[in-house]
Amino acid sequence: MFMTDGLYQPSLTRQPIMSATAMPIEEFVKQLDELAHRATTAFEVATDADSLDEARVQFLGAKRGEFKSLQKNMGAVPGESKKEAGMKLNAVKKTIQLAFEDAQVRLLGGAGEAAKDPEFDPTLPGHSFRVGKLHPITQTINELKDIMGRLGFTPAEGPEVEDDHHNFEALNIPRSHPARDPLDNFYLSVAQSQNNDSTLADNPLLMRSQTSTVQIRVMENTEPPIRIVSLGRVYRPDETDATHYPMFHQIEGLMVDQNVTLADLKTVLHLFATNYLGNDVPVRIRPSFFPFTEPSVEADYFWNGKWVEFGGAGIVDPNVLRSVGYDPEKYSGFAFGLGIERLCMIRHQITDIRYLFTNDVRFLRQF
Ligand code: DAH
Repeated sequence: MFMTDGLYQPSLTRQPIMSATAMPIEEFVKQLDELAHRATTAFEVATDADSLDEARVQFLGAKRGEFKSLQKNMGAVPGESKKEAGMKLNAVKKTIQLAFEDAQVRLLGGAGEAAKDPEFDPTLPGHSFRVGKLHPITQTINELKDIMGRLGFTPAEGPEVEDDHHNFEALNIPRSHPARDPLDNFYLSVAQSQNNDSTLADNPLLMRSQTSTVQIRVMENTEPPIRIVSLGRVYRPDETDATHYPMFHQIEGLMVDQNVTLADLKTVLHLFATNYLGNDVPVRIRPSFFPFTEPSVEADYFWNGKWVEFGGAGIVDPNVLRSVGYDPEKYSGFAFGLGIERLCMIRHQITDIRYLFTNDVRFLRQF
């Protein structure tokens, strides 16, 4: 056998006591009694779970336990005494086992009791409990916020109950515009006090129909340069179907600085789509119209072999910049507004927007 330079040191106490010569039954019984005495004492004096476990390993350990070692001496007991030796072995094992279980009950309470309960099957799986998680829309919002944060856009918030000024007027949406139609908005009928009668009549409240309102709120209070994103709920009295719901979420981006162009917009949308969808996602823009941007565009991205509508965007209209007191000769900016549900649904192949809001846990659990 290969010998190391004194590094290999076999354990002196845990080795089986192997004997080539026969062991009289009396000797075997003596060793067992002695073991039983030491083991039960050790379990009785154990003061905590750790010392109990240490004693368990020492005496009952499956590989190197002292009982296991002694058991091997059975081989040396003469044939005619084997039966007696076996019975003694079993009796001692039981004694040690019981002493251990008593100590378990004493130190660990219920755990020991449970182990004794004949009805208790420790091999059955335990009771699992479900850990809650964030709603898929919230997960999407967090992820989009992260992506835009890496591009230098700070999150901004605005109220969901908005006034006409921020939802329409300051966004260059004229009185006559169909988007202001009472049938297309949730206007609020608010009890009017004598003091603010005229204010409310001129500037009625509504549930915001778009997050573009936040552009105005931020620009009113901040000087350029600006780079913000706003993610939140918007409300429209749409007929509910697979792609429409009277409440949904938008992400609004706004960047205002000197010399901001459509090229900056396209770059940001490209990085945004690429980050969210995971590979290089081409983006294209098409001419469109929004009152608050000039020029206005619709953006699409290329995904799974086809162009998918991204949302509206454009260069912030000089009238909007003027409405918040910016000089359009000095500053320019881009803005975009995208539907969050649509992004979430494409990514997860969700076929009906209503799944997101009926809150059936069998659906939600998958995200
Ligand atoms: N607010 C528009 C909507 O709800 C989306 C939009 C279009 C936002 C163009 C923008 C933009 O910021 O520049 O349909």
